[in-house]
Amino acid sequence: MNKQMEQDIASRRTFAIISHPDAGKTTMTEKLLYFGGAIRDAGTVKGKKTGKYATSDWMEIEKQRGISVTSSVLQFDYDGKRVNILDTPGHEDFSEDTYRTLMAVDAAVMMVDSAKGIEPQTIKLFKVCRMRGIPIFTFINKMDRQGKEPLELMEELEEVLGIQSYAMNWPIGMGKEFMGIYDRYNHRIEQARVEGEEKFLKLDEEGQLANPHPMMETSYYKQAVEDALLLEEAGNEFDTDRIARGELTPVFFGSALTNFGVQTFLETFLKFAPSPQPRLTANEQYVDPMNEEFSGFIFKIQANMNPAHRDRIAFVRIVSGAFERGMTVNIPRISKTVKLSQTTQFLADDRETVNDAVAGDIIGLYDTGNYQIGDTVVGGKSSYQFESLPQFNPELFVRVTAKNVMKSKHFHKGILQLVQEGAIQFYKTLHTEEVILGAVGQLQFEVFEHRMKNEYNVEVSMEHIGSKVARWIENEADVKESMTGPRSMLVKDRFDNLVFLFENDFAMRWFSDKFPDIRLYSLL
Ligand code: G4P
Repeated sequence: MNKQMEQDIASRRTFAIISHPDAGKTTMTEKLLYFGGAIRDAGTVKGKKTGKYATSDWMEIEKQRGISVTSSVLQFDYDGKRVNILDTPGHEDFSEDTYRTLMAVDAAVMMVDSAKGIEPQTIKLFKVCRMRGIPIFTFINKMDRQGKEPLELMEELEEVLGIQSYAMNWPIGMGKEFMGIYDRYNHRIEQARVEGEEKFLKLDEEGQLANPHPMMETSYYKQAVEDALLLEEAGNEFDTDRIARGELTPVFFGSALTNFGVQTFLETFLKFAPSPQPRLTANEQYVDPMNEEFSGFIFKIQANMNPAHRDRIAFVRIVSGAFERGMTVNIPRISKTVKLSQTTQFLADDRETVNDAVAGDIIGLYDTGNYQIGDTVVGGKSSYQFESLPQFNPELFVRVTAKNVMKSKHFHKGILQLVQEGAIQFYKTLHTEEVILGAVGQLQFEVFEHRMKNEYNVEVSMEHIGSKVARWIENEADVKESMTGPRSMLVKDRFDNLVFLFENDFAMRWFSDKFPDIRLYSLL
């Protein structure tokens, strides 16, 4: 591999921002793009408003969100690094895609609302990152508002998420009294609400302001210095290896909306976020990003919701080498070679086609039905496959039928294809073989319904059977149908594995007490 390409690969930083809705992900993304020069004014990424969208609004949502949905990957250059931010939709469009996207990043930024602390969606997304052992950087947002005490937030990280933390900086006051941050890492104070040279104030050896300043008289300053001392003595040590393994999260305080602390965050983050990482194959060999041969895997397929154009885009995370337009790749799952001529890269500016995508980058392949989620694409004659993407525990279930029984053939074909594509999970009841669909987010059902109608010409009825706790069984042979009751249901998944659907955690525990020999397990 030539030097230039090695440098290009080493310059990539590919990450996702994870958060509970409203913590400020969109605002943060906007500010990052602004620093990256990808947008002229912070404020042009259309924010996602909360509220329920009807499926018919889908196209409209796409249009409105512009950057954040159609361009599921935002790319910009900063400080000699090429930054790829992968969008992980939150809100009501939370789905398995969101989880799978986390399979394609090398790091995650976790946004936390300082007033709300760790919220449910954050916990779910965090777990997926944790499982992958990727570094997680925490940004505690909205310091311009009154929130929880910083020490309380740090404790929450450790207690709720079980991750140790290192405060890179510490707020000086908050809300109306927010004066800035005591920057432990850069050994300075960054003042809020001032510009120019005054913005950064030097600290001396003792960690006090080096030069006299009115701030020194405030209780907020004194508290921050005291807290910083306490953190020095009793807090975790800064340890880059532990950060890299995802065992220690560096914590930054700031305010995305007022653009406070964002640039400092970005610069420090880019210093410690990893360059593209090797990836394991199904045969447990690592493929190094610097391998000459192009390889990648598909982590997301987005169907064009426009019925007039049924094209789909398969998103590929490049694992090694470089992409060249017109190159031929192998899809080992189906032993098929395809020429990659129609591709697109998701740049924040208007460049449309890919010209310099290397390991770490994401490209979109126009798909005419060749690809499935989890597929490996590899250049040359190689035919290895990357380890398969995990399956995620569904939490929502519907029973689904075709409104018109005459359409049964189309109905089954549609379901088969959408399930294969990874849009939705499939289950069936034991004898009656009723179709039950599982999802991690409601949006998956809406997309399913819409696509069945538009692509397969089948109108479906969906009856919610509520949220359930799904558990697979290690010792299937010991399971008897008589073990089910009003609060549990036994179904098969698409690989014919038995699955218990419990009404809730309580019903599951009750079952386990009653049948202690049945060993249940959960997917991710
Ligand atoms: P999300 O993508 O994580 O869902 O969050 P988003 O950025 O859309 O932010 C949610 C709300 O929080 C927005 O207000 C946004 O302006 C606000 N916000 C984000 N960062 C900060 C911050 O640092 N400080 C304060 N005070 N607010 C912040 P909204 O009223 O819901 O929307 P909008 O009308 O302002 O767009």
